[in-house]
Amino acid sequence: MRTVIAVTNVKGGVGKTTSAVYLAGAIVRSGRGPVLLVDADPQASSSEWIEQAPVPGVRLVEAPTPRMVVRAMDAGKERIAIVDSPPGDEKTVRAVLERADSVVIPTRVGGPEPSRVRATLEMLVPGTRHGIVVCAARAGTRDLEETLSGWEAEGEAIWGVVPERVAIATGSGAALSVVGLVHYENVLIQALEQRPRRRAPVPSGR
Ligand SMILES: Nc1ncnc2c1ncn2[C@@H]1O[C@H](COP(=O)(O)OP(=O)(O)OP(=O)(O)O)[C@@H](O)[C@H]1O
Ligand SMILES: [Mg+2]
Repeated sequence: MRTVIAVTNVKGGVGKTTSAVYLAGAIVRSGRGPVLLVDADPQASSSEWIEQAPVPGVRLVEAPTPRMVVRAMDAGKERIAIVDSPPGDEKTVRAVLERADSVVIPTRVGGPEPSRVRATLEMLVPGTRHGIVVCAARAGTRDLEETLSGWEAEGEAIWGVVPERVAIATGSGAALSVVGLVHYENVLIQALEQRPRRRAPVPSGR
């Protein structure tokens, strides 16, 4: 059975595409691949990225509508699918979250960020495994410490703190950096830690 990891935040520009592409790369690099990368964003950023710098073992499918994404998430033989979600388009985001076994929520340090994460959390199917990844973080800053302790106080799991690095930021056209792959492999381990529990077991009938 396939595990679907959604990378979702209703806010734009937080690191969804970067996280989705690096998670896919980390799956292959750690021997868990091949992997399906579903681009549910009409901006097609992860599609462009993979077209310009293909990652062996990562198969990309563009699926920018609810209908297309529902089909794409269960098509093919890969054991794991990563979904890059659009920033708006509530219907597509809901279709993704409906199927997701695990949800990675990229965010940034700073003012409006927590409210957008909370809005995203409210859209999850109750019980869905999820964790926050702080992207482009500046180590040792007070803002970062406050962000992390804030989420801890709310009982939210932090699955990763990915430092701000030019090598990770380069995006389209560049090969994935080892520093990014290592950080995202740690996120991946947490995203995959448990199988989904929210679906009740089917009685055997005997
Ligand atoms: N760890 C990092 N270090 C430096 N820059 C980063 C890092 N992660 C992401 N970025 C940069 O932040 C910007 C936004 O990232 P990204 O495109 O992944 O966000 P997004 O949430 O997918 O945006 P959109 O909502 O438009 O799809 C990009 O320029 C990206 O290169
Ligand atoms: Mg994006």
